[in-house]
Amino acid sequence: MIKKVLVSALLAGFALNGSVANAADTEINIYSARHYQTDEALYGNFTKQTGIKVNRIEAKEDELLERLRNEGANSPADVFITVDASRLAFADQMGIFAPVKSEVLDKRIPAHLRATNWYSYSKRARVIVYNKDLVQGDQVQTYEALADPALKGKVCTRSGSHPYNLSLGAALIQHNGAEKTEQWAKGIVANFARAPKGGDTDQIKAVAAGECGVAIANSYYLARLMNSTKPEDQAVVAKVVAVWPNQKTSGTHINVSGAGMLKNAPNKGAAVKFLEYLASDEAQTYFADGNNEWPVVEGVKVSNAALDKLGPFKEDTLSIGKLADTVGEAQKIYDRAGYR
Ligand SMILES: [Fe+2]
Repeated sequence: MIKKVLVSALLAGFALNGSVANAADTEINIYSARHYQTDEALYGNFTKQTGIKVNRIEAKEDELLERLRNEGANSPADVFITVDASRLAFADQMGIFAPVKSEVLDKRIPAHLRATNWYSYSKRARVIVYNKDLVQGDQVQTYEALADPALKGKVCTRSGSHPYNLSLGAALIQHNGAEKTEQWAKGIVANFARAPKGGDTDQIKAVAAGECGVAIANSYYLARLMNSTKPEDQAVVAKVVAVWPNQKTSGTHINVSGAGMLKNAPNKGAAVKFLEYLASDEAQTYFADGNNEWPVVEGVKVSNAALDKLGPFKEDTLSIGKLADTVGEAQKIYDRAGYR
């Protein structure tokens, strides 16, 4: 016991190296804003491989962050998992994470999908879907094109302040500049078929129903409908066409699920082991496929009928950690443009 305390105390002030940090920790406490069926196998296999018991608290992102804030230095949480770069950036700005030093993670996770204090573990793309009875395919090949006055009354998205749209705006600012992004946001608002409401799946359904001509949605929502055996979902899929946006320019906007070690983690060694485990071939498959996403580690493949059908595409390779730099500006631009 004394030894354990000493080891923890010694390690607390340092960025941890996976090879030296694994002596004491026999348990790990994970706060996760992400849950899918395959997560059971994911966590079970980690325990099988390492003997480290996993305790999980799953809740909405805001609740978990509030909990971390209240618990402060006494928090039992070791790792925080959530989705979306702008949410991860927000959590990071709260100062909850501590940097990890891991050769495994540096080697396995591509540099542009690593932030200073957290790592990406699965990728999703922000795609365009359209109804070919209402718009021409060549009108909707880029995010920028959705602001074209030719699409007046045709465009649908979820709320502009949703993290998915803020991350997209943050990326557009980095590619096109703030001024052009503001013009773009105004153009999107001027083109709305209806005021933003619902989630991404609702936008896809509204495109199928003809209420909207074109919409933006995360790829996994579309893939989920494609993989669904429900006739009503198949009817939606039959009505929409998917586009990989910006193939001739920046590439399609990529977002991620991610995780990081918490600053006050009592089991820092176990936390590093877990973060490294999430980058293993096996965990990558579970983590990505559970939500119809792509693994971040190169060479790891998921066998997913919808993703296979959607095929390969050119990804935007902007640094996911640097999106944080322009998320706040994106929110201000959207507010001024009335993109709510
Ligand atoms: Fe989502």
